[in-house]
Parts: sequence; C-alpha cells; structure tokens
Amino acid sequence: MKLNLIERLIVNNPLRAFSQKHLEGPLLRRMASRKEYPLCLEIGCGRGIGAEIIVKQFGAQKVIATDIDPYMIEIAKKHLRPELRDKIEFRTADAMAIDEPDEKFDAVFSFGVIHHMEDWRKALKEVSRVLKSKGEFFFEEFLRPFIRAFTLASHPRGGEFGFEEFREELKNNGIDIINVRRFGNIGIIGVGRKG
Ligand SMILES: C[S@@+](CC[C@H](N)C(=O)[O-])C[C@H]1O[C@@H](n2cnc3c(N)ncnc32)[C@H](O)[C@@H]1O
Repeated sequence: MKLNLIERLIVNNPLRAFSQKHLEGPLLRRMASRKEYPLCLEIGCGRGIGAEIIVKQFGAQKVIATDIDPYMIEIAKKHLRPELRDKIEFRTADAMAIDEPDEKFDAVFSFGVIHHMEDWRKALKEVSRVLKSKGEFFFEEFLRPFIRAFTLASHPRGGEFGFEEFREELKNNGIDIINVRRFGNIGIIGVGRKG
C-alpha cells in the first residue's frame, strides 16, 4: 500500500536517512552472520537509502531495490550516486508477488515495509521463496499496538502482526530468527536465516 502524505514526509527527510545509515544499518550489520552478501533484494526501498546501506555496509555487489510506488522509485533513481549506478537497480514492483526466481538472493532487506502490506503473510512467503538456502532476511518492523496507536499513518489491517506471530510465520516459511531486538510493543529489528 502506498504511503499517505504524512508518511511520505516522515520517510523522505534527512533525519530518517541519518537514522537508517547510522543506527538501523549498523545495528543490523552487527546482527549479521556473514561479512558479505553479494546479491541482495530490498523490498519497499522508498527513496533508496537502504540500497546504499546494503552496498556500503553489507558488501553487496548487486542490489535490486523495489517499491510499489513509482513516485518513490523516481526519487530513488534521481538521488542515486553515480558511483553506485552499476551496483543498484531500482524497479517498481509488488513485494507480495516478487518477479524473481526461487532461491536467487543471498539476503533480503525490509526497512519498515512488511507492515504496509495488505497481506503480510504473503510477503514473508515471497521473501522466503527468493532467498537461497542459508540466505538471510533483515527486517525492521512496527508491531500491531504501535500501528493501531499511530493513526496519522494509513496502514492496512492485513499488515498488522505481533512479534510471536511474525516469528511463527517466518518459521512456517523455513526462516528462523537468529538475532532480534525488540522495542516493547513498538517494533522489532532483526535477522532470520533460511534453513
Ligand atoms: C515506511 S516506507 C519505508 C521506506 C524505506 N524502506 C525507508 O525505510 O525509509 C514503506 C515503503 O514500502 C512501500 N510499499 C508498500 N507496500 C508495498 C508493496 N506491496 N510492495 C513493495 N513496496 C511496498 C511504500 O511505497 C513505501 O515506500
């Protein structure tokens, strides 16, 4: 589901970019089990900061970064640094139906995206399908109580989950959470590995 105006303002600003580069990125990096993830997919890439982090902090040689909103992809392409042009490809695409073959990627990244899906279980199924065996899924997500309280944003009901539900659904799709930090009922940030 596309962002409303308020969410666009929250996401497309220097503070969000700073936090993603200097807090979330490094935290996920410390949770990662490998030094490098050569081929990566990012779902819901927004303005493209995540893709840059994946190259610089996770050693990706190639990142396919997707978003359902062509407007966000346009911004991401416009701001892509010339030195990263051969490593990052931005595409408009739906994370609930990823147009990629099974077991292609070393890692999949979701910076605050799964809770925007009309069907979050479908998205996790797709994430697992495109991950290689032993591939890793890096996520940063808000949980149901926070989403319900934060009424300025427009989130679909199908994107709401609690932590245990999320963990269980990943497990059902062959992904075990190997490292996670929970911020009360607000959100989670962590990594899972496909068996
Ligand atoms: C909260 S923003 C996060 C953007 C960026 N990852 C960040 O951390 O700044 C969520 C993004 O997910 C995208 N999105 C929502 N539903 C999607 C879907 N079904 N498939 C792909 N992207 C989606 C939105 O367009 C939006 O750019």
